[in-house]
Amino acid sequence: MYKACITGIGSYVPEHVLTNADLERMVETSDEWIVTRTGISERRIAAPWQATSDLAYHAAEAAIAHAGLTADQIDMIIVATSTPDHPFPPVACQLQHRLGCRHIPAYDLGATCVGFLSALETAAQFIATGKHKHILVVGADTLSRVTDYTDRTTCILFSDGAGAFLLSRQEEGRDQGILHTATHADGAHFPHLYVPGGGSRHPQPVAPDTKAKIVMDGRKIFKLAVTSMAQTVRETIQAAGIDASDIDWLIPHQANQRIIDAVAEQLAFPPEKVISTVKHYGNNSAATIPLAVDQAVRDGRIRRGDTLLLVAFGGGLVWGSILLTY
Ligand code: UT7
Repeated sequence: MYKACITGIGSYVPEHVLTNADLERMVETSDEWIVTRTGISERRIAAPWQATSDLAYHAAEAAIAHAGLTADQIDMIIVATSTPDHPFPPVACQLQHRLGCRHIPAYDLGATCVGFLSALETAAQFIATGKHKHILVVGADTLSRVTDYTDRTTCILFSDGAGAFLLSRQEEGRDQGILHTATHADGAHFPHLYVPGGGSRHPQPVAPDTKAKIVMDGRKIFKLAVTSMAQTVRETIQAAGIDASDIDWLIPHQANQRIIDAVAEQLAFPPEKVISTVKHYGNNSAATIPLAVDQAVRDGRIRRGDTLLLVAFGGGLVWGSILLTY
């Protein structure tokens, strides 16, 4: 069995910044309420001409360059997204074509905000068995396209962005890579966070009373997020046979600073070892974790050899964690 390690990382966020002051003009809210309850000050929103594949392309290009590879060396592409450009084809196929990759396998994986972790877990299996050597894993979402900007309980949270890892077979003599993965689902919780319209149950154009926009029970999701993320971190630490103090960085899904703080507190994890980007980028679903890792690698906090614990939850309900050495 081979170990999968990260050889390249990249991310992309659109230029347009939607601030709390902008939202104050759109719904009945305040900068003070949003910052206190969520920790978010601003978020990035895709331009009208941009779709998920455009964001994914920029992040993918950066990850390939960071790895020092060329597109024709990639053996497979997996894109985690809940907001593809179209119901089909997969965003991954658009990416394969635009990057100029060979006729390699390329498909999307939908596991909402855990999608990037599920895609990493899947890619790591293909590398472990020796089937593929270099796999491009992208998390990309344009949640602004499914956000209701008249609903103050959701529009303050969501945003757009993309992040990518180039996952490669570990070379001889290197001791890096994915050490443990754990992902879970409980479909009983689906009504607490979902998009009612736009799928095969209520196709477009949607009935007037059925929105193709996010519907969420914020309080319920908040509690589920904290308990499920704390549980899966404990599970991974135990399964890997390590101590929490062995982890250099906890990188949680960026949904709400209060959720991040509550998870760290439950795990007695020092706040200075938790990476947060939610203040400037909000929640861009499958993109939050690779975006946060990319930022921390580029600003020098995360270094080669550091142990990272990635943890996420999302609509489904889905949750999971991945332990790796960078
Ligand atoms: O990837 C997963 C995505 N989803 C999440 O992570 C969501 C998790 N949940 C949350 O982040 C939080 O529950 C929210 C930020 C959505 C809401 O924060 P909260 O502290 O749970 O507030 P709440 O729902 O308990 O609402 C408190 C009050 C309510 O007013 P009343 O009933 O006390 O009079 C709301 O109507 O705040 C009101 N409220 C707002 N006020 C100003 C709700 N949204 C806003 C707003 N501005 N934007």
